[in-house]
Amino acid sequence: MSNPFTVSLVCWHDGEPLLRAIREAVFIREQHVPIELEWDGMDESSRHALALSLNGDAIGCGRIFPSGHISRMAVLPQWRKRMVGTAIMEALLDEARSRGYPQVDIDAQTFAIPFYHKFGFVEHGKEFMDAGMPHKKMTLKLLPR
Ligand SMILES: CC(C)(COP(=O)(O)OP(=O)(O)OC[C@H]1O[C@@H](n2cnc3c(N)ncnc32)[C@H](O)[C@@H]1OP(=O)(O)O)[C@@H](O)C(=O)NCCC(=O)NCCS
Repeated sequence: MSNPFTVSLVCWHDGEPLLRAIREAVFIREQHVPIELEWDGMDESSRHALALSLNGDAIGCGRIFPSGHISRMAVLPQWRKRMVGTAIMEALLDEARSRGYPQVDIDAQTFAIPFYHKFGFVEHGKEFMDAGMPHKKMTLKLLPR
C-alpha cells in the first residue's frame, strides 16, 4: 500500500508558513526550544523537505544546508512511527547525493540516535547540550552516483 503522505523538497520562500507551523508545534511548543534559537537565520539558504498528508496538512519537515548539515527533523506527534521521518530523511539524502556531497552530518538529540543509525549515520565526539537537550554529532558518508 502506498504511503498516506507525500514528501517534496521546497525552498523557504515557497514552504515558509507550513514549515513554520510544524516547527512551532514540535520544537517551540513541545520541546520548549527558545524562539531565537529555532529561527536561526539559516532557513533561506537551506533546502527543505516537507511532508503533507493526503488532505494537504503539513505533518513533518527537515532541512539541509549547502554544507551538507541536516537539521530540524520534525514530525507531528500523531504522525510519528509511521515512516514519515524516514521519508523526509530519504528525500534529504537524495538531495545531498544529487548535489554530489561526500557526506552529511547532523547534531542528533540523543534519544533519536537509533533513528539515524537506520540510515547509517555514525556518532562521534562527546555529548553536548543544545537548547537544553543532550545531543551528539553524527556523520553519514555518501557514495558517489
Ligand atoms: C525523530 C523523528 C523525526 C522520527 O520521525 P518518525 O516519523 O517517528 O520516524 P519513523 O516512523 O520514520 O521511524 C522509523 C524507525 O526509526 C526508529 N525511531 C524513530 N523514532 C525513534 C525514537 N524516538 N527513538 C528510537 N528509535 C526511533 C524506529 O526504529 C522506528 O521504527 P519503529 O516504528 O519500528 O519503532 C520524530 O520522532 C520527531 O519529530 N521527534 C521530535 C522532534 C525531534 O526530536 N527531532 C529530532 C531532532 S535531532
